[in-house]
Amino acid sequence: MFTVGILTISDKGSKGEREDESGSVIRKMITGLDFEVTHYDVVPDEKGEISGKMIEWADTAKIDLILTTGGTGLSPRDVTPEATLSVIDRLAPGFSEAMRAESIRKTPRGMLSRGVSGTLGKTLIINLPGSPKAVRECLAAILPALTHGMEMLSGRSSECAAKDI
Ligand code: MTE
Repeated sequence: MFTVGILTISDKGSKGEREDESGSVIRKMITGLDFEVTHYDVVPDEKGEISGKMIEWADTAKIDLILTTGGTGLSPRDVTPEATLSVIDRLAPGFSEAMRAESIRKTPRGMLSRGVSGTLGKTLIINLPGSPKAVRECLAAILPALTHGMEMLSGRSSECAAKDI
């Protein structure tokens, strides 16, 4: 089992003015797989609050995977990618590339998400877009490779020569 933190980034959500449907979609989609959601929070679109939460969850709580939703677009308040880039030590661009490729097949607006992915120590951080539909589509695109990536990052596996890829 890998521990997961779901971090929803939403000004309205953080004030209790909007229900966090996207966080619930993430939780439902990973339930029953190799993941256990141990941490959850909703923070406003503030770079310091987002990066602070990531550092707390990665460094102190040692969470294996942080999935964020929201704040990846082009509106002036969208700073999730910048917050993520300010804390990660290595990029893992394939997750974001796969999500955008799949998203653009669903809607041209898929190219509007600027989400990034990378590692902070042994924690993998992945930015998902904000809408429940986008979360569903993007998470589905990366789930087939996610467990193997987590195994590699945690050191539980160093073998890529899988028979069943
Ligand atoms: N990706 C998928 N798969 N499906 C979608 O409907 N919506 C896009 C995009 N990515 C979308 C998607 C839209 S409309 C926006 S504005 C961006 O994600 C950024 O969303 P965010 O700012 O809520 O993170």
